[in-house]
Amino acid sequence: MENIVILTGAGISAESGMGTFRGAGGLWENRRVEDVATPEGFARDPALVHAFYNARRQRAAQVAPNAAHMAIARLQRDYPGTVTLITQNVDALHEKGGSGDVIHMHGELAGALCAACDHRWTAPDEMQPGHPCPACAAPAARPDVVWFGEMPYHMERILDALSQATLFAAIGTSGQVYPAAGFVQEAYTAGAHTVEINLEPSAVVSDFAETRFGPATQTVPAWVEELLTR
Ligand code: APR
Repeated sequence: MENIVILTGAGISAESGMGTFRGAGGLWENRRVEDVATPEGFARDPALVHAFYNARRQRAAQVAPNAAHMAIARLQRDYPGTVTLITQNVDALHEKGGSGDVIHMHGELAGALCAACDHRWTAPDEMQPGHPCPACAAPAARPDVVWFGEMPYHMERILDALSQATLFAAIGTSGQVYPAAGFVQEAYTAGAHTVEINLEPSAVVSDFAETRFGPATQTVPAWVEELLTR
C-alpha cells in the first residue's frame, strides 16, 4: 500500500476551460506577471489586479470539473493507503470533483485576504480597490492568492507529506515555478517512485522515474484505474 502524494497544476483544469498560465493562449501571454501577480503590481495598480482575478473568479464559477479531477477524488475515496492532494490551482475544481481535503498552496480565488491584518473571508464576485476589511476596516482587501515573491501556504504540512511519500505524481504542471517544481526531488529523497503526468515534458521531466504524456482527462483516469486494480 502506497503513501501517495499528488501535485496538480493548471493543466488538470485546462480541459474544463480554465486556461493555463504559460504556452499559447496562456493567461500570462498578454500580461506581464509583475503587473498582476506580485505585491508590487498590486500596490501600483490594484484595479488592474482585481479585474484580472475578478474575471478568473467568474470563469471558475462557470466551469465544471473533468474526468481527471473526478478520478483523483475516486482515488482518495477508494484507495486503502494515504492520498495527499496538493494543488497550485486557485480554482475549486478538485472540490467540485469530489475531493475533500485539498491543500491549496497558492491560495484560492474564492478567498479574500486583508493585506493589513491578515483576516480572511469569502471573496465577493467583484472585488474592488479600497474595499474595507470586515475585521479591521483597512481599505486593503486583496485576493487570497499567493503571488510571486510570497511564501506558498501549508509548506510545513506539504514537506511532511513528501518526506513520507512512497509514490509522488505531478499532474499538469510546467515545473517552472518553485517550490512546487522541487517537490519531485523531495519525494525522490524520501525514496518515492515519481511519475510525471502531463501533456508534454515539463521543465523538470528528467527528475521523474516515470512519465505519462497526454491529455489529463485520459491519462489520469487510466493511472487511477491501475492503482486501484493492481
Ligand atoms: N492535460 C495535461 N496537461 C496539460 C493539459 C492537459 N489537457 N493542457 C496543458 N497541460 C500542461 C502544459 O503542458 C503545462 O506543462 O499543463 C502545464 C501548465 O503549466 P503552467 O501554465 O505553467 O501552470 P502551472 O505549472 O500550474 O503554473 C504554476 O505558476 O503562474 C503561477 O501561481 C501560478 O500556480 C501557478 C504556477
